[in-house]
Amino acid sequence: MQRKTKTIAIANQKGGVGKTTTVVNLAAALSARKRAVLVVDLDPQAHATLGLGLEKRQGTSLYRVLTGEKPVEDVIEPTKWNNLNVIPSEVDLAGAELEFGAREDRLSMVRDALAPVKESGAFDYIILDCPPSLGIVMTSSLAASDGILIPIQAEFLAMDGLALITGSIKRIQESVNPSLELNGIIFTMVNRQARLTQDVMEEVRNHFGDKVYETIIPRNVRVSEAPSMGTPVVFLDSSSKGAESYKAFAWEFMAKNPTRFDAPASAPASAPGTAGQEPQPAGQSVPEEPRNQSETENDKENT
Ligand SMILES: Nc1ncnc2c1ncn2[C@@H]1O[C@H](COP(=O)(O)OP(=O)(O)OP(=O)(O)O)[C@@H](O)[C@H]1O
Ligand SMILES: [Mg+2]
Repeated sequence: MQRKTKTIAIANQKGGVGKTTTVVNLAAALSARKRAVLVVDLDPQAHATLGLGLEKRQGTSLYRVLTGEKPVEDVIEPTKWNNLNVIPSEVDLAGAELEFGAREDRLSMVRDALAPVKESGAFDYIILDCPPSLGIVMTSSLAASDGILIPIQAEFLAMDGLALITGSIKRIQESVNPSLELNGIIFTMVNRQARLTQDVMEEVRNHFGDKVYETIIPRNVRVSEAPSMGTPVVFLDSSSKGAESYKAFAWEFMAKNPTRFDAPASAPASAPGTAGQEPQPAGQSVPEEPRNQSETENDKENT
């Protein structure tokens, strides 16, 4: 059994589109499915750090690894939940844009900093929470990633924002990271009743096809309450609409991004660990993959 770590940056230069919420809840839902996950909080706002129940403490972020003061292993912290770890953010990272802007290795610095973790195979997924700008931190995060996942809101000018970010992806592919892929686009904070929402979703789907995840994350008050309790909504209120949709999204994400049970070519078809199949631990059944949220389902904001 060979573990291939996938590094996914969750990014959009636009602020407040649900990047951090998606990082926290995708990571939580994956960890609940026994995937080993490392969240790397690269936004000095440190919302992912706080949302996962950790505090901001100076000297504990990737900054000290980028400056060469600490090995990356020293900044990985466990959370309260199994399989869910984090490299937190704190105020030092706020200086990174200016401070590292002139470094010759500025584009590869995040990749180099995370290389030992990736090579160790300790994690299935490394998920990067990027700040809302097209600056050096986001660019070097994309340079460090196998894929970029873009959360967007289905609203006016959504396509313009996507054009900007796909332009950045192209430039990074042409320069520092030819293997960067558009992992996908996920609609967040959706109010399906709004006519404009339907039109925008259709336009984005027509343009990006199967790069758009089927799962849609509805606007849901429990999702917005969870960060203040330092607990992902998928753990805080796992039957709320928001949690259900993030869990469905994690299923879809895992199916599109298998990492763990990639069998060696010589493995017999019936052996445990056959490609794409998850061996079930004794006494524990894995539930059927939930269907995606139906378009006709009524979104209740308060459940
Ligand atoms: N599905 C949802 N339903 C209701 N509120 C949500 C949902 N998703 C996110 N929010 C809220 O919207 C706000 C912005 O979300 P979030 O912080 O995830 O966005 P972001 O893109 O990371 O922002 P920034 O660009 O500042 O980093 C937060 O207050 C969050 O709690
Ligand atoms: Mg954020």
